[in-house]
Amino acid sequence: MSTPLRLGIAGLGTVGGGVVQLLRRNAEIIAARAGRPIEVVAVSARDRARDRGFGLDGLAWHKDPLALAADPALDAVVELIGGAEGPARALVEGALDAGKPVVTANKALLATHGVALAQRLEARGGILGYEAAVAGGIPAIKALREGLAANRISRVAGILNGTCNYILTEMRQKGLAFETVLREAQALGYAEADPSFDIDGVDAAHKLAILAALAFGRPVDLGALHIEGIRHVSALDIALAGELGYRIKLLGIASRSEAGVTARVHPCMVPADSPMAAVEGVFNAVLAEGDAVGRVVLQGRGAGAGPTASAVVADLIDIARGRTAPLWGAASETLDASPAVPMAAHRGAYYLRLMVVDRPGVIADVTGVLRDAQISLESMLQRGRAPDEAVPVVLVTHECEESAMREALARIAALPAVMEPPAMIRIEGV
Ligand code: HSE
Repeated sequence: MSTPLRLGIAGLGTVGGGVVQLLRRNAEIIAARAGRPIEVVAVSARDRARDRGFGLDGLAWHKDPLALAADPALDAVVELIGGAEGPARALVEGALDAGKPVVTANKALLATHGVALAQRLEARGGILGYEAAVAGGIPAIKALREGLAANRISRVAGILNGTCNYILTEMRQKGLAFETVLREAQALGYAEADPSFDIDGVDAAHKLAILAALAFGRPVDLGALHIEGIRHVSALDIALAGELGYRIKLLGIASRSEAGVTARVHPCMVPADSPMAAVEGVFNAVLAEGDAVGRVVLQGRGAGAGPTASAVVADLIDIARGRTAPLWGAASETLDASPAVPMAAHRGAYYLRLMVVDRPGVIADVTGVLRDAQISLESMLQRGRAPDEAVPVVLVTHECEESAMREALARIAALPAVMEPPAMIRIEGV
């Protein structure tokens, strides 16, 4: 049998444990595909004594994860600590500097330091695999970087956060409020005790920044993203979306036009019969549109032990085989420097939901603001009749510029008959 690839793993939580178990369970098939066995020989984690459901016998234990970078018994390092800074970053940089290939699931690190990491790899050589950083078990990195490498990609989009997709699905199916479903998701362990990273769109933004860099062959640029989460999505808007033939999803979307690249994460209304609408619960999806291939949609589990380990081990098999690719698909100096287009210049259709006093002339005032802003209406819906209370009024616009919509919304919100801040959700044809 040929020489094994000897691994050190930092972080033995859900994903790290999943990697150890997958390498053991599928050892034979993995060795056949890698051309040699892949063996875990050293680990580092916070708590040695914790019951993980598998033994650590025979594995070297390093209290300090950085020791894995220096351990001469290791051929490669797997970083599953997480976080853009601290021990995760130090370990990745240290292992690369020590000449060890690294595999990571760390989207924050790639999205924040991806430019510097690519330059480091180009200057000193080395391999950094990050298939597990985006959409868990969906092979989105390989699909964009290798499978679709011949295409000019015009758009990449995805449901990139399972927590948000689970919450939105439960809200729609059970008619529950955001806070109620979030509390349930936390009790079930689907959402973190501090859920802001997920529900405020930050996790999805890290993943979209990575996808956009690969799709458009440009330096990763997290700062250029427009980011909104799902806290303000109400059960009422989800129900009204259903009446209009839409579902609400948190999407990450990056598209290229002559003006440059727009990248944004926000709740969207998508047609109920679109591929994205069918992706429910904790599932993720990634869509790419290329000039040669047309539309490609991949769907699968975006988190969890098995799916994320599947992606980590795929990278390890590439390393064992000696297969490499530039971090962002092409050398840094060939990456495209076209500008990031600001969100204010985005063009699209909009759903607006107002709570208004039900009296004559209110709709005329609202549509007058839209007329002044040159925003054309596609349809309008009023539900209920309650002379003394606010009633919901829904307006769906034709395509217009975001800056015009924001100005119009500010004027609409200030009308005396409008009782609450208006809800605005962008409509997307994905
Ligand atoms: N917390 C993420 C999610 C998974 O809810 O999809 C890891 O990125």
